[in-house]
Amino acid sequence: MDHAAINRAKEHFGKLLEAQMKRMEKVKAAPDWIDYAKLSPLKIGILAGDGIGVYIAAQSKRVLEFLLKDEVKSGRVVINDIEGLTIENRAAHGCAIPADVLEEIKKYPVTLKGPTTTPRKGDPWPNIESCNVAVRKELDLFANVRPVRIPKQGIDWIFFRENTEDLYALGSNGIDVDADISIDFKLITGPGSDRICRLAFENAKKNGRKRVTCVTKANVVKTTDGRFLENFYRIAKEYPGIEADDWYIDIMTAKLVDEKRRRDFQVLVLPNLYGDILTDEAAEMQGGVGTAGSANIGKQYAMFEAIHGSAPRMVTEGRAQYADPCSMIRAAAMLLSHIGYTDIGKKLEMALDITGQYEKKMVITGRATGVTGETFTDYVMDWVKNPKLKDAWEGYVKG
Ligand code: IPM
Ligand code: MG
Repeated sequence: MDHAAINRAKEHFGKLLEAQMKRMEKVKAAPDWIDYAKLSPLKIGILAGDGIGVYIAAQSKRVLEFLLKDEVKSGRVVINDIEGLTIENRAAHGCAIPADVLEEIKKYPVTLKGPTTTPRKGDPWPNIESCNVAVRKELDLFANVRPVRIPKQGIDWIFFRENTEDLYALGSNGIDVDADISIDFKLITGPGSDRICRLAFENAKKNGRKRVTCVTKANVVKTTDGRFLENFYRIAKEYPGIEADDWYIDIMTAKLVDEKRRRDFQVLVLPNLYGDILTDEAAEMQGGVGTAGSANIGKQYAMFEAIHGSAPRMVTEGRAQYADPCSMIRAAAMLLSHIGYTDIGKKLEMALDITGQYEKKMVITGRATGVTGETFTDYVMDWVKNPKLKDAWEGYVKG
């Protein structure tokens, strides 16, 4: 037996635990929620990302600038580009987020981020950590909030995916113990589970939703998922008017495609990896991952993004201008609501529903067979400006 290998692994594990214990101290001592109403100016940063990110970020920035033009003019809101989160720059620095870029990001309590390329073993890029994952950790964006709505089918889900723990926390810190054995680590903490479950119940309470569903695999992954589930039910007791139940991830994946049952789900809360997978499935039902927005929420920072990747192939094949900007524009709508411009955010969502799910006068196919992202964005903005927007939306949903 290779005892040296075992000892190396123990030492490695010990260091990880030290870092995680330090993180827990920080989480417990973290300041409370930021109040956007008190910020002047309120600074919004745009991170274009790479691949199609550059193209769709430009479109969503255009939408934001249009919808916030009075606020920008009065100086209440500032919208700036933050450079440097490209794969080229990250690879050159050999890290997920170059230090100067991170420093800049931290000046913005709110950011809108385009997709960024995540390298994996065997890619031409160094196998650095995903910058999505790194940003979420650095800014402690513990909640990944992903709504999926198909009004016509009565589907109105909101997923609260825990965003800093689970297999992601140490996803780049696994070890090849010896020639045969590789190990990754799954980590769930009490404070981490509590804060995401609480946010899910708070959302239900605020929006009059009657049910919160927890999704785990606690029958098999007993310790970590077991803790998550236990904490979920403990938090649930603080919300007596809201029904709490739980499902395992496998059957939940099936139930989301069960037309009779799926509209009964309302708020769903789940550990990171299950949330990653289930939200892609849900987004596909709404019209594809290109249509779903995603909010990464922490107490001090919030970052809004598309739920899909950077599709570098679309760029090399020369069709990036046909990339669907809707996911990022939806993220922009979530951003607007989050910082207090709820009415504008709602309007933008209605315009996206009409253009993407109902009217479909223009279609994006990702190729020259459809319209460009820019043309589609103009179409969305025309609907936002249309005084009949709300009536039209209601007509479509009921009709
Ligand atoms: C997402 C993405 C990321 C994730 C990737 C790009 C690391 O799939 O935001 O869902 O797994 O979280
Ligand atoms: Mg994902």
